[in-house]
Amino acid sequence: MNALDLLIQDHEKVKKLFQEAEQTTDHTQKTELFDRIDTELAIHAEVEEAVFYPAVEKHEKLKEMVAEARDEHEEVEELLLEIEDLATEGTEFDSKLTALKETVEHHVAEEEGEMFPKVRELFDAKILEQLGKELESAKGKHIGIDKDDL
Ligand SMILES: [Fe+2]
Ligand SMILES: [Fe+2]
Repeated sequence: MNALDLLIQDHEKVKKLFQEAEQTTDHTQKTELFDRIDTELAIHAEVEEAVFYPAVEKHEKLKEMVAEARDEHEEVEELLLEIEDLATEGTEFDSKLTALKETVEHHVAEEEGEMFPKVRELFDAKILEQLGKELESAKGKHIGIDKDDL
């Protein structure tokens, strides 16, 4: 799969999980949904940082954009860690989850609206397919590790 399609597919998946988490009033379900968001975002950010961003930042024009994206990943990671320590029953959980959702939405809007269109312009289709394969294999490894941890 083309790298950009694969990353967009991940973005959509997380968007749906956020919607479900916001809609549910069941604490067990909310905890489960947050755990899935947590795992999805951690893996997504890691494979972007390990495979996608290094390829993208080779282009001088995109260097700054990638640096900004990496900072935003850090913000997301910090929020994930904070939420991991909170009980779903508290009001802080909901407000932090909303903050996380907004931070992720902002980041995704920049990737899909600014970074990806430039990448589409600068990279040929073959390279994007190759990057897609590398992303898939990196994701596979991480999913394996996460399952073992459970
Ligand atoms: Fe992304
Ligand atoms: Fe990202």
